[in-house]
Amino acid sequence: MNSRKLAVHCAGIHLRGQGELSQKQVPHTGSANRDREILSIWRRLYMKERIEITDYANLITKALPKGILLNTNGDKFNSMVIGWGHLGTLWGRPTFHVYVRQSRYTKGQLDKTKEFTISVPLEGIDPGINRICGSLSGYDIDKEKEAGLILEPAEKISTPGIRQYPLTVECKVLYVQDQDLSMIPEDIRERMYPQNAPDTDLMANRDFHTMYVGEIVDAYIIR
Ligand SMILES: Cc1cc2nc3c(=O)[nH]c(=O)nc-3n(C[C@H](O)[C@H](O)[C@H](O)COP(=O)(O)O)c2cc1C
Repeated sequence: MNSRKLAVHCAGIHLRGQGELSQKQVPHTGSANRDREILSIWRRLYMKERIEITDYANLITKALPKGILLNTNGDKFNSMVIGWGHLGTLWGRPTFHVYVRQSRYTKGQLDKTKEFTISVPLEGIDPGINRICGSLSGYDIDKEKEAGLILEPAEKISTPGIRQYPLTVECKVLYVQDQDLSMIPEDIRERMYPQNAPDTDLMANRDFHTMYVGEIVDAYIIR
């Protein structure tokens, strides 16, 4: 008997299948507490498949230019599309690095909560989610509602993942650094940071980026 089945047996119920059950299919025992306990075990065992994040480095790197999601949960849940980022190692710890412009709603939330989740699609981007989370701001709208995001509670932090983009990386902010515009090659500085463009221009504006290095504290695929 593998560990999943063993643990479910401990709850006194044997669930058949491996990650294919929906919430409605979880058997009821007649006791609310027992049902909650079984649902919680079932969620842990059947809903998240732990992964070795480096096994997915290639997939994440290829997904980035099309857009993956950076989620925060400060004043409310918010999700923004990012195209820049990378897995890494810093001070011997596994890390995920993201780059966020000053004007993003996300920046204030990151500074407040010092944690984030990364959500990566496994079957290509959802155009609706990409449009709403990549061009509209949490300052103006509730993206969870507008984009129909289905949230999945995280394991080690308070920022949920997103079921539609199942590969999830939980991160606690380890290091923060503002970009130094003077150190950026001139052609890139002129193209990406035109100082005469308002900070409302989406892809190229006068705001520099801040690098947030998140220490990876958990990684899994939501099934
Ligand atoms: C494909 C794509 C990649 C993007 N990459 C980034 C990025 O790496 N960093 C960033 O600050 N903004 C990036 N953006 C822009 C933000 O997603 C966008 O401004 C978003 O509306 C910010 O949301 P917020 O104000 O709720 O934080 C990207 C947008 C798209 C469509």
